[in-house]
Amino acid sequence: MQKIWLFSLVLSFVTILGTNCAFAMSPPKSSTPLRAILLVAFGTSVPEAQKAFDQIDAQARKAFPGVEIRWAFTSRTIRAKLAKEGKQLDSPEVALARMMGDGFTHVAVLSLHVIPGEEYHDLNRNVRLFSEMAGGFERILVAPPLLSSHNDMMRVAEALLTHAPKDMKAEEAVLFMGHGTRSHPSDAIYSAMNYLLQDLAPNVYIATVEGHPTLDEILPKLSRKGIKKAHLAPFMVVAGMHARDDMMGDEPESWKSVLSRNGIACEANLTGIAEYPEIVEVWLDHLRETYARL
Ligand code: CO
Repeated sequence: MQKIWLFSLVLSFVTILGTNCAFAMSPPKSSTPLRAILLVAFGTSVPEAQKAFDQIDAQARKAFPGVEIRWAFTSRTIRAKLAKEGKQLDSPEVALARMMGDGFTHVAVLSLHVIPGEEYHDLNRNVRLFSEMAGGFERILVAPPLLSSHNDMMRVAEALLTHAPKDMKAEEAVLFMGHGTRSHPSDAIYSAMNYLLQDLAPNVYIATVEGHPTLDEILPKLSRKGIKKAHLAPFMVVAGMHARDDMMGDEPESWKSVLSRNGIACEANLTGIAEYPEIVEVWLDHLRETYARL
């Protein structure tokens, strides 16, 4: 008899505990979901490069009419630099805290980075923390960056070739400058892109500033082909400092200087890849898929 009493006591205790836990784990659902989009880019301190973000903004607003769209920038250096000029930009964390405070319940965050590298993973980590906060978003998801599948890479390669100079002579090449990274395995995506481009157009190459392929790795290939002229263009979201200084600057280490010393004349196209609508569409397709899962 005592055993049965003890058993039912334990059972009711477990039931109460279970109910309490279930209550604590699922926050009360708001009756009217409020959806929003957060676009997250590295940022730029070059005013003329801003037009790449304007292009993304215009296409995103067209793709998601009536949806609240906000921006955040991951580079602390750029945010600090612009703050001195009186332009206040949010980090993703500050933007998300504001959105939480403004009562948004469902948020799709788009990573406007090129590869799923360190910054994308940092963004994911912090967004996950926001998804766990009590009284926070009911659902928040991150849409992956530009080159996240073979299909993305093909679409981007084809778009780049559409905008490459027409009727190039045999001794002319196009050389894109990617950013690259030494601290993340996704750096290999630049080599994959170089391979894809080479397959479609043998005189089109990608090298990177900070990762691989390096300019030194591409240079012998250009020389072997007898290339005399290179059309340089950034393979970056914006044509910012890297494109203006490291690519086309007059310093001895810039790509223009290195190539000229090797007998290759340079011409530059200062267009960020986000200024091409077809490339922005690749990012927006990632956002559409993610937004549909909110
Ligand atoms: Co950089």
